[in-house]
Amino acid sequence: MSNTENIVYLNGKYLPVEEATISVMDRGFLFGDGIYEVIPVFGGKLLRADEHLQRLQNSLNRIGLANPYDNDAWLEMFSHLLEKNAGHDRAIYLQISRGAYVKRDLGTQKNADVPESQLTPPTIFSMVLQVTPPDIEVVSAGISAITVDDFRWNACDIKSTSLVANVMLKQQASDAGVEDAILIKNGQVTEGTASNMFLVKDGILVTPPTGKRLLPGITRDLVIEIAKNNIILVEEREIQQSELVTADEIWMTSSTREVAPVIKLNGEAVGSGVAGEMWKRMMDLYQQYKQQLRNGG
Ligand SMILES: Cc1ncc(COP(=O)(O)O)c(C=O)c1O
Repeated sequence: MSNTENIVYLNGKYLPVEEATISVMDRGFLFGDGIYEVIPVFGGKLLRADEHLQRLQNSLNRIGLANPYDNDAWLEMFSHLLEKNAGHDRAIYLQISRGAYVKRDLGTQKNADVPESQLTPPTIFSMVLQVTPPDIEVVSAGISAITVDDFRWNACDIKSTSLVANVMLKQQASDAGVEDAILIKNGQVTEGTASNMFLVKDGILVTPPTGKRLLPGITRDLVIEIAKNNIILVEEREIQQSELVTADEIWMTSSTREVAPVIKLNGEAVGSGVAGEMWKRMMDLYQQYKQQLRNGG
């Protein structure tokens, strides 16, 4: 974290984080009734802002909550927030909850007969996360993971703040003494606790298709795009759990993690047990992409 003051955005105001408070009746707090986004920022430029804002819209549509701002208003707010929180590589975190109703009641105002002037406004929060650029040496050391049963709901395409299941799954990994977990539903790989999954087999990059079982990761799409632009074959298809054992490489992708190699799974080496050649190539291409963004490309 930088030493400068942390200024956050809350419901139209820019405030020091200590002064940004919300009601205990907020449905985000009571029910996890909200959605969020994390948008990486390199050299002041947002990575794939349109795609993140589209996913935000999709999440809002899925939970039946109106988007409080249009894209220009979001971008303007992000730009003010970035100005107020200096840094090199950063990320914008934003969260919208359904707001603080008077009573604790699961029902929403969506189809209720509430005059527009009396509708509860959503709670809109955003902050800048200071991100340490991944140290290639450290990242290439790789991650140890276990496979765990993906017991989550059939709505994982929503970037919901209801993350207790992900917290529990991550806890299972840490209880087992490893960094992360690969989630398995009905014998198939879905995603990581906070990332999408790729495997490499015989030079082909494979990742599960999007749908309700996983979050459509923006990094996932970018990795697929970079691969296709560089004549790397990509297959979007189901991955059977058994394929993890014979994979040459396994990667986890996310906005904050970027592309991370899994080198040990359930105590066994993945492929040759070190970060693979395809990962090195992708990491290189990904860093080039970021550099172009920083340079205004
Ligand atoms: C459950 C889950 N899947 C996938 C991802 C990766 O998404 P993105 O690449 O947009 O960061 C995340 C990111 O936090 C996540 O929480």
